[in-house]
Amino acid sequence: MHLSSGFTLLYLLAAVLFIIGLHQLSSPKHARSGNLVAALGALIAVVATIVVLHHSVLNWVLMALAILVGIPVGAVAARAVKMTAMPQMVATFNGVGGGAAALVAIIEFLMVPKGTTASLLLSISVVFAVVIGAVSFSGSGVAFAKLQELMRGTPLTYPGQQPVNGAVAAAIVILGVLIVVSGVGVIGLWVLLLLALVLGVAFVLPIGGADMPVVISMLNAFTGLAVAGDGFVLGLPILVVGGTLVGASGTFLTKMMSDNMGRSLGNLLFGAFGKVQVGAETAASGQRSVHSGSAEDIGTLLAYSQRVIIVPGYGLAVAQAQHVVRDLADALEKRGVSVDYAIHPVAGRMPGHMNVLLAEANIPYEQLKDMDEINDDFKSADVALVVGANDVVNPAARNSPGSPIFGMPILNADQAKNIIFMKRSMRPGFAGIDNELLYDPKTIMLFGDAKDSLTQLVAAVKAA
Ligand code: TAP
Repeated sequence: MHLSSGFTLLYLLAAVLFIIGLHQLSSPKHARSGNLVAALGALIAVVATIVVLHHSVLNWVLMALAILVGIPVGAVAARAVKMTAMPQMVATFNGVGGGAAALVAIIEFLMVPKGTTASLLLSISVVFAVVIGAVSFSGSGVAFAKLQELMRGTPLTYPGQQPVNGAVAAAIVILGVLIVVSGVGVIGLWVLLLLALVLGVAFVLPIGGADMPVVISMLNAFTGLAVAGDGFVLGLPILVVGGTLVGASGTFLTKMMSDNMGRSLGNLLFGAFGKVQVGAETAASGQRSVHSGSAEDIGTLLAYSQRVIIVPGYGLAVAQAQHVVRDLADALEKRGVSVDYAIHPVAGRMPGHMNVLLAEANIPYEQLKDMDEINDDFKSADVALVVGANDVVNPAARNSPGSPIFGMPILNADQAKNIIFMKRSMRPGFAGIDNELLYDPKTIMLFGDAKDSLTQLVAAVKAA
């Protein structure tokens, strides 16, 4: 499609806004405005595209209806969704995007006039967008069902599963090549779509529910690439730019998530990790004793400390205790105690989980310290206050080569002078393994729901 220079400039502006938005998303301080900047870019791109394509719009009413229904559904869903259900929400949006990308490519292929053959670029782009988009659509559907507990979250495996998946993938490659080189035609494309849908389901079934955020991030990258493929199909450079940005950033995010979980992407995708062996370590620890304390004693310890580092984790999100943790920090700061939050990159269940949660309670961004920034400070901290976190402070990641989390970078909470663990029981965290730090002589356990325990601590600090 030939674009006039005015529209090319508008698309360029939209692409620049996407890049600025993405850049701003890398820091919690600018993330909100990054979202708005990227959304403005998307709005400019959509309006420009409608204007460019207005001659070829076949049904304005249907289009307007889709927009009128889509906007309120998106807005209401985004406002109503619980923080802990955010990965499902992303899976839904992402899957729908992948499915749309596949359908757009098929429709363009159907529009090739009878008796003519599609160009090589068109055929390759269509095959690419259909396969990647369909895998993302059906894979995201399974990811959603696992997270929403509509199906079992544990890995669904059977003997010979990987060879079967490999055979489906090989069939897709062969059919794709046939479509491109010998014009197998529309029926071949429908079969390709079906095979890709099957592969998406087969690929996600053996992955455990708790690993879904990483899978969703990867499928998100897939959707971006499928959309970029559509950009070539439709001759719209903005789709190529936007799709590639999503593909690249999703790929980086996936890699960062697996690195910070101490696992290779291969192990994550093909290792059926959710089948965690709650191994010998957990079983053997049954008889060991731990040291627990009262909220009054721990409140006094905190009140007379100079430096406290709070380590938030998944349990803080479950307890929805972000506002009370801020009350505690405020009470401590009033007494001259210095308070920071140590943020592990995979604390919680999705990227940036803790940042978003703590931002809800308006905790100043300067107090949220990344792992690399704060890890050396634990040595000088009087207290590491671990609120609903477990794996991200488990020294097994450093010391136990056989452990499933060996190699995962962790927060050095064990180096603080005192460690306080706030959790409900001795149950393990996501990785399903025991945490030696719970038995450390420097550790005091405060058992209970994090919100209740924090409320008691606020009162105790105020009374000290
Ligand atoms: P976890 O290791 O999962 O530990 C969370 C702890 O919170 C549990 O030990 C649980 O103990 C406690 N808890 C739950 N509900 C609570 C409540 N209402 N009040 C108080 N405590 C509560 O969490 P983490 O340290 O944040 O580590 C995250 C884990 O998830 C890592 O293994 C990471 O690899 C994995 N993961 C992360 C991501 C991303 S991107 N963030 C994605 C997938 C997986 P009790 O049951 O005894 O209370």
